[in-house]
Amino acid sequence: MATPPPISSTPPFKQRPSKYQYQSGFGNSFESEAVKGSLPYGQNTPQRVANGLYAEQLSGNAFTVPRAQQQRSWLYRIRPGVCHTPLVPFEKPTLLDSACSIVNPNQLRWKPFPIPEKKHDFVEGLITIAGAGHASVRHGIAIHIYTANENMVNKSFYNSDGDFLIVPQQGTLDIQTEFGFLEVHSGEICVIQRGVTFSVNVPDGPSRGYICEVFGAHFRLPDLGPIGSNGLANPRDFLSPVAAFEDVQVQHVKINKFLGKLFTATQDHSPFNVVAWHGNYCPYKYDLNLFCAVNSVTFDHLDPSIFTVLTAPTNEPGVAAADFVIFPPRWLVQENTFRPPYYHRNCMSEFMGLIRGVYEAKKEGFLPGGGSLHSCMTPHGPDADTFNGAIGAELKPTKIPDVALAFMFESSLILGISDYANKNFIDDDYWKCWQNIANNFKNHQQQ
Ligand SMILES: [Fe+2]
Repeated sequence: MATPPPISSTPPFKQRPSKYQYQSGFGNSFESEAVKGSLPYGQNTPQRVANGLYAEQLSGNAFTVPRAQQQRSWLYRIRPGVCHTPLVPFEKPTLLDSACSIVNPNQLRWKPFPIPEKKHDFVEGLITIAGAGHASVRHGIAIHIYTANENMVNKSFYNSDGDFLIVPQQGTLDIQTEFGFLEVHSGEICVIQRGVTFSVNVPDGPSRGYICEVFGAHFRLPDLGPIGSNGLANPRDFLSPVAAFEDVQVQHVKINKFLGKLFTATQDHSPFNVVAWHGNYCPYKYDLNLFCAVNSVTFDHLDPSIFTVLTAPTNEPGVAAADFVIFPPRWLVQENTFRPPYYHRNCMSEFMGLIRGVYEAKKEGFLPGGGSLHSCMTPHGPDADTFNGAIGAELKPTKIPDVALAFMFESSLILGISDYANKNFIDDDYWKCWQNIANNFKNHQQQ
C-alpha cells in the first residue's frame, strides 16, 4: 500500500481520508454499538446483557478520584477478557529496559534508529531509550522507539504499566483495538491507555516512530489560561473509534507488559470481540496539522509550553511528568528578535524527535527517526551556523515550511539512559556543533 500524500498544514484543511469511522471530542463520554440493541439502556450490568454478551468494566483510574478525572468504560463482549491461559514470560529477547540505569549528563543525540530487516512486529520492535521512575509506583515515564515490518497476526498487546503516546515517523499504523480501529498516519499521533488491548499492522511496510509511556496520570489537554477557550489542540479534533468486533475461533497470543517485562498467554478466540461499549476511557488519535499555534506577534519568544499538545501531570500543579510539545509549521514575525530557539538551561528534561523535514535550531545532524536528549540543566541551543545565520537575517515574516515537524517529550523527571541507547547510534560528534561559537565581545576593555 502506497504512503498517502501528506495533508497540508495550511487551511482550508481537508479531512484526511480514512477507511474507518470515528467519534469526535477529547474525553467525551461516548457510546457505540456495532450491533444495534447491544448496549444496556439506563444501567451497566443488567442480569442478562442483550445478545448474550458479557459486561466488563475497564477502569482508567481509582474508583474514587474526583469526578472530573474519572475515566472508565464498559465493554459488552462475546467473551470476557479473562478467558486465557496463565501468563508466562515472553520467550524472545527484547530491548525494553525498565531500569534505564546509565547516567549521562551530556548533550546527547542519536542518529536515526534503523529499521532492522529481519521480520519483526510492533511489540518485538520496541526499544527503550530513556526513562525515570517506575511503573510499580505509578510515577515516571519511559521513551521508546518502535520499528516494525510485519503485522501482528493473531497477536495482541496490552500494557499494565502505563499509557502509550505513539508518534509515527515513517509508515501508517493500522491499529485494531478492543474499542474499534484507528488508522494513524505519520503527522498524526494516538494514545492507547493502560489496559487497552490492541494489535498493530504496518500497511506501508517498514515503519518507525516514537513512544512516550506515562506511568501516572493520563494525558490531558493543557489549560489555556489567558489564551482563552480556543487554540492549541482543540477538543473536537481528537478522534476515537467506533465499536467493531470479530467473532472468530482462532489461536491468539496476548502479550502483556507488566513492570517492564513481557508475558504471553493464549486463548482460542479473538480479543477484539467487543460488540458495544460506552464510557470515556478509550484510545484516540489527533492530526498534528490541526494544532492552532500561538506565539509572540511583537517581539521575543514565548516559552515552548505554548506548543503543548497534551500533558500528563504530576501531583504538583503545573509540573508535568510528560508534556508532548510540537514545533509545527508556522509564521515567524517577531521584530528585533533572535528567532531560533534561544540558548537555555532547563530544569526539565527534553527529549526531541523529528517526524519530517529540518528542525529550525539544527540544520544538520538532527534527522527524522533520530533523537536528542538535553537533560536537566544541560546547556543547549542553536549550533554556530544557525546562530550566525539568525543574527544576520532580514527579519521579514517567514514561514517554517510545511515539511518541518519536530516534537519534544519534556519531563520534570531526570532521565536515565538505557544500555542500548548508550551504546548504539549515538552521535559522538554532537558536542562539536557548539565549539566554534565565537567570542564576539570585542574591544570593550579599551572603552
Ligand atoms: Fe531545549
